[in-house]
Amino acid sequence: CLSDWSSDVCSSDLNLTSMKIFVIGSGGREHAIAWRLAQEGHRICGAPGNPGIGSLGETLATSDYLAAAERFQPDLTVVGPEVPLAAGVVDQFRAVGRPIVGPVKEAAQLEASKIYSKDFMQRVGIPTARYARVTTFDDGLAALKNFPLPVVVKADGLAAGKGVIIAQTEAEAQDAVRSLGPTLVIEEFLIGEEVSFIALADGKSVLPLEASQDHKTVFDDDQGPNTGGMGAYTDGRILTSAQTQQVLDTIIQPAVRAASFTGFLYAGLMMTADGPKTLEFNVRLGDPETQPLMHRMRGGFADALM
Ligand code: AMP
Ligand code: GLY
Repeated sequence: CLSDWSSDVCSSDLNLTSMKIFVIGSGGREHAIAWRLAQEGHRICGAPGNPGIGSLGETLATSDYLAAAERFQPDLTVVGPEVPLAAGVVDQFRAVGRPIVGPVKEAAQLEASKIYSKDFMQRVGIPTARYARVTTFDDGLAALKNFPLPVVVKADGLAAGKGVIIAQTEAEAQDAVRSLGPTLVIEEFLIGEEVSFIALADGKSVLPLEASQDHKTVFDDDQGPNTGGMGAYTDGRILTSAQTQQVLDTIIQPAVRAASFTGFLYAGLMMTADGPKTLEFNVRLGDPETQPLMHRMRGGFADALM
């Protein structure tokens, strides 16, 4: 089932008893998760939720997730966005014995801090772009000299898809350091096709979802600034099975083992001439990648989450 799990090979015949599943978040991604789980016959509650989730079940307009869980009494909780993960919601739920899908606060640093993430990749030997980490404007401006143009400048913390500038000129690179700094990753620009690769992990083993791709730039024809994704698609032809195996062997498995990662690990990849390289890790399902992924899945999602 591993590589085919989002196709019909896997599991539409599982007959799980209906469960109560609590979905944390309020976006399209969380609506898609709730939609998939409702299709499988489970009872849904979302917090803070949105009208889409409300059409499938109950919503509680709160960001006190433990209190919401206390009220709904879910069998399982699934976290959509990165902010509650980085704030430690998984640690909180586990501390009171509530089953939850997601990484603990420490592992969520893989997304919450670009510096933590790049240092982790280097330590574990995960292929990624050559980089410098800086903490002052002067070091940032000096580090630019070690990278050819275009150069990529990344803010350290969570930035909702707006913390990365690809500078085409020296002046743009200096402006990027000044606007995103002082704590930054500066890295080499990689050439290739970008792929979103997401796997569900239990700390040791992984269950990969089908590769997907999102439309990055804000305007048609790949014009305009980068966004978190204007839309997405998934298709079994994005990666060959050899490429999928290489991503699993060199990126996903080593990361999951080294971080004892639980939840959804999302590797943003650049498929370069030298093989797949990791642009970033996210510690959750992608948005908007989740919408097509949930649409193609034929069943067994709740079972995998359990
Ligand atoms: P990140 O948040 O690190 O994924 O960066 C946001 C977007 O910037 C990515 O989805 C890529 O489109 C682009 N990007 C990031 N790093 C690089 C890189 N080293 N080379 C080329 N493009 C990059
Ligand atoms: N689509 C990019 C992300 O979810 O971060």
